[in-house]
Amino acid sequence: MADSAAGRSPEAAPPRTRLDLSGVPETLVIPLYAKAQDYRSRRSILHDAKAEEIVRSLDYNFERLGASGKTRTRMLAVRARQLDEWVRGFLVRHSNATVLNLGCGLDTRVARLAPPAPVSWFDIDFPEVIDVRKRFFSETEEYRMLAGSLTDADWLSGVPGDRPAIAVADGVLGYLAPQEVTSLLRRIIARLRSGEIVFDVMSPSAIRLGRARSQNPTAGLLRWLVDDLAQIDAIDPRLRRVEAHSVLASRYLPFGVRLEYGIPWLVPSMRRLIRFVRYEF
Ligand SMILES: C[S@@+](CC[C@H](N)C(=O)[O-])C[C@H]1O[C@@H](n2cnc3c(N)ncnc32)[C@H](O)[C@@H]1O
Repeated sequence: MADSAAGRSPEAAPPRTRLDLSGVPETLVIPLYAKAQDYRSRRSILHDAKAEEIVRSLDYNFERLGASGKTRTRMLAVRARQLDEWVRGFLVRHSNATVLNLGCGLDTRVARLAPPAPVSWFDIDFPEVIDVRKRFFSETEEYRMLAGSLTDADWLSGVPGDRPAIAVADGVLGYLAPQEVTSLLRRIIARLRSGEIVFDVMSPSAIRLGRARSQNPTAGLLRWLVDDLAQIDAIDPRLRRVEAHSVLASRYLPFGVRLEYGIPWLVPSMRRLIRFVRYEF
């Protein structure tokens, strides 16, 4: 909490919002902090000023989850950027789209993309996360925050099923059990007439490497790890994979870093560590 002396001064910064989350919901600080770090860096990938603003407004020890580090910051910024670009492209093609940002955390994608009406946008996360989110975002006719678990069937009934829709899951599906991912994707496809689902996929080796390199206490929370994308293709006959990229070859990495990653990229298991995929249905 803000100290009381600061609270009495007219020039004082406003009191910071205390962040009391644990377990999976607390993982939202990792990409949030990375986006703020990226914003502060000389060659920002995402230019997310609002993430920086939110980090400054939170009373939280961001080092707690090992949330810093240049490589990690870059990977998370690239991940958000790739998913942003896919959503942006979809909105260009479908001006009346619905966007579902699954497991939104305190992500500022809706501010980064600033979709014009009549795009309808839903940010979904656990109730304790949405409570915090509501201090930084306000609902409008086109922008709604839904509180609930992605594993429940209820929340989707509030989403219109008759418009082209894109669901984005940025650093989220890994926290679900494999059967939960399958059910979620099937429910989305069944509810929405047509559209896309874009997300990141981590391989089991990414976790082994992550554990070896740092003391990241959240790695043990990850449950859905995929080596072979054919497993995802097989979830529903309506799903069609149209793109898949390794983070190591992302066009959003600085050129020098891409060159540096050229050698690891040659190793198939390294290429599979973190991938971004785009499916149509
Ligand atoms: C690593 S954070 C990513 C947050 C956000 N997508 C971003 O990129 O900043 C994972 C998020 O997924 C949410 N999440 C995980 N499992 C969920 C579930 N079953 N239902 C709703 N949200 C979930 C967490 O609460 C958390 O906000």
